[in-house]
Amino acid sequence: MSHKRAQFGTKLGVIAATVGSAVGLGNIWRFPYECGTNGGGAFLLVYIAFVFLLGIPTICAEFALGRHSRKGMPGSFRIASCNKRWDFLGYGAILAAFMILSFYSVVGGWTLDYIFDSCTGLFKQIPNSDRHQQFMNFVSGWRAVAWAIVFLIINFVVMVRGVQKGIEKVSNVMTPLLFVILIVFCVNSLFMPGAAKGLTFLFKPDFSKVTTDVVLRALGQAFFSLSLGMGCLVTYSSYFSDNTPLIKTAFQIGILDTLVAILAGVVIFPAVFTYGMQPAEGPTLVFEVLPNIFHDMPGGNIWSFLFFLLLALASLTSIISVSEVVVAFLCDEFKITRKRAAIIVTAVTCVTATLCSLSFGPLKSLNLFNLFDYISANILMTLGGLGICVFVGWRMKSEHFEQQMRLNSHVPGWLFSYIAGCIRYVCPVGIFIVFIAGLL
Ligand code: PFF
Repeated sequence: MSHKRAQFGTKLGVIAATVGSAVGLGNIWRFPYECGTNGGGAFLLVYIAFVFLLGIPTICAEFALGRHSRKGMPGSFRIASCNKRWDFLGYGAILAAFMILSFYSVVGGWTLDYIFDSCTGLFKQIPNSDRHQQFMNFVSGWRAVAWAIVFLIINFVVMVRGVQKGIEKVSNVMTPLLFVILIVFCVNSLFMPGAAKGLTFLFKPDFSKVTTDVVLRALGQAFFSLSLGMGCLVTYSSYFSDNTPLIKTAFQIGILDTLVAILAGVVIFPAVFTYGMQPAEGPTLVFEVLPNIFHDMPGGNIWSFLFFLLLALASLTSIISVSEVVVAFLCDEFKITRKRAAIIVTAVTCVTATLCSLSFGPLKSLNLFNLFDYISANILMTLGGLGICVFVGWRMKSEHFEQQMRLNSHVPGWLFSYIAGCIRYVCPVGIFIVFIAGLL
């Protein structure tokens, strides 16, 4: 059963692909606006607590399930439990994947447009005072739809070729480069007049801002950013070799992903205060604030080209991993070719992405964009994570779980107990409480 399944070639490839999945628009686009609309520093603190208490253990649960079963969604549940009763979790994951693909490709399309504008020098021509209006005109029209479809076509090309070769190679170069570019932008932001205000907003917690909704959103953001709760890491780990140390890899993903989100905050918030904008601006935040910085920087067109290119590539490595959940599902369950699966995913998503994109214009009243974003991250992914932890903690054979955690790596007893305890008790109870409290 497992001998035909593709595998990642190298250890570095595993890290690059999984970190590539985690690091994306969630860190650089979604984190700053979620943080900005939900109280800044207090949100960040709750977020970090969730990464370590709930996020990293859930990554381990997904890894154990995927590598043990060597299947994606929902086959992994079926193999590990020997019955079909848990399949519903897999179908929830497929639904979440389609929702994420729909709105993610819209934002991915925006990054492509910004790359184009950097090449043509348009950034420099538009005065900062007109930025908001110009952006709103763009996102509400058909040009944004066209870019979303271009983004999906690029995704299609990579999907068809398979994840391993293209993604492993691209991620190996792009992920470290993204860090370097982010650090350069951080240094630039720290010299802005609004730096002190921005950093205070990001790092100084004001606990009066912490409501149950803020806590739910922090959990949703952690799961979205770590690509959890919808089988992405189950699917990827079904391609891991037995040499991949699962717990170590889980910590590497959690720490690197959080670091990128914080760096993105350090870039954005000083600029927000410098340019007199509102941190609670919402999904358009990064796309309005960053061009203001580029506008005033020497060589701004080159910087903006580089930044949005990296953002596009970071989002591409993420969207490929979302697509892979559905492609693996279609190939495994219906025995169709990867190419046919990729065509189906792309065709359906082109329609739903168009509806999401037009949510900023003619379909404003429907607002599918925000609806898909909210439902997938805050409901489906958190519930999916809960289901996976309950399954791995209570239904999967504990010797199978332990075997996966310890395979080819030295894991001290306390660390294993921490991970196993979190998966069995802390994650199910924590996610359930946060979820119910947030909804009420
Ligand atoms: N983690 C990605 C990001 O932060 O942009 C988004 C994502 C990728 C979500 C893969 C879900 C997923 F399965």
